[in-house]
Amino acid sequence: MQEYGTKAREMDEQDALAGFRKAFGTVLDEVIYLDGNSLGPLPRKTLLMLDHKVREEWGQGMIRSWNKGWFDLPLRLGRKLAPLIGAGEDEVIFCDSVTVNFMKLVAAVIQRDPHRTRIVTDDLNFPSNFYALDGLLKGSGNGREVLYLESPDGIELPADLFRDAITQDTALVTVSHVAFKSGYLHDLEAICEIAHSKGALVLADLSHSVGALPIHLNEWGVDLAVGCSYKYLNGGPGAPAFVFVRKELLEELPQVLTGWMGCADPFGFSRTYSPAAGMRRFLVGTPPILSLQAIEPGLDLLLEAGLEPLRRKAVQLSEFLLEMYEDWLQPLGFTLGSPLSPERRGSHLSFRHPEAYRINKAMIEPRNGVPPVVPDFRKPDNLRLGMAPLYLRFHDIYRAVQRVVAIVESREFEYFSHDGPTVT
Ligand SMILES: Cc1ncc(COP(=O)(O)O)c(C=O)c1O
Repeated sequence: MQEYGTKAREMDEQDALAGFRKAFGTVLDEVIYLDGNSLGPLPRKTLLMLDHKVREEWGQGMIRSWNKGWFDLPLRLGRKLAPLIGAGEDEVIFCDSVTVNFMKLVAAVIQRDPHRTRIVTDDLNFPSNFYALDGLLKGSGNGREVLYLESPDGIELPADLFRDAITQDTALVTVSHVAFKSGYLHDLEAICEIAHSKGALVLADLSHSVGALPIHLNEWGVDLAVGCSYKYLNGGPGAPAFVFVRKELLEELPQVLTGWMGCADPFGFSRTYSPAAGMRRFLVGTPPILSLQAIEPGLDLLLEAGLEPLRRKAVQLSEFLLEMYEDWLQPLGFTLGSPLSPERRGSHLSFRHPEAYRINKAMIEPRNGVPPVVPDFRKPDNLRLGMAPLYLRFHDIYRAVQRVVAIVESREFEYFSHDGPTVT
């Protein structure tokens, strides 16, 4: 084990991104945080900036601040995100949750082309997207159906498997770019090529890839996308999500959730709705300004670090973890629940173990004074470790594996019950 410690130290010394860790303060020295793929940590600047904004803009400016930057904030942040996802500046807006935005876009596609009755997705997608599809299609008539492709191994789903499922009846193909459980990275470009050859649109959920790896929506031909800002964007709990619509599609796609903030003249208070120009129409109600403001410092950090170097480091972290897995975790009964190839993997890894739930608990709540290690658990038996490259050190990975080995070898997990909190 010790040689991995030495190797980790050497890799940390060579890490050109190491300086970004201090942007998150000392908490990362007290906790080994491997859950940035679920809720990113707080950038120090966010705290200072929010304090100032609350005091000045809300406290002093009050309603006057709407005309001093608040009204334009959802679009201004969209312009800032655009280069991180390969979008045009006028193709992105921040608003609502991922699920709500997903519903807006699916409803729009259904309304745009009522004769295409099939929606294709896969069982690696995030369940909220399934629920949204079920909710939208219930009672929509017209023989609409959702076709769920099954991953052969529960881990990967090669793009070729979409070929037979996508027919001339297909309106939409929708996938999570990176699967929430296994971390499988879909080949969006290949999926777009297959879908477009049948006239179907592609909607990608970028929640687990945005901020972790370079994304080229326009280059790949992606039509529509949603994603969240509380994971690798470090925007804070429940931070607003974003919507991307390819420019050429904007005028063809109806906004179905028609609210006053998305209409052409919200303060005209007219009896009838007409959509705002551009992406603004995807707003519904009043934007949560404080939560939106909290997104910006995280975006600035990613723009400064650059996604190519971040991705390179994330792959190195993951490969280092896999080396340790083979030597130390596999012999303890863990199996890999993620793709082996880094090209087909996002930025988190799942390791399966019959006691994964209690091991996860023992990591988070150590009984022996060692620092907590925070991964998360996904049913039925996945211990999920996020490799957020902006602040993680190779030495953190080394210590996390060391801790898992100690917990399993000493059977420390047996002190914990099988009952769980609501959020795992
Ligand atoms: C891939 C994916 N899609 C959608 C969601 C749901 O996002 P929201 O709670 O913003 O609707 C999540 C939440 O973690 C997710 O991981």
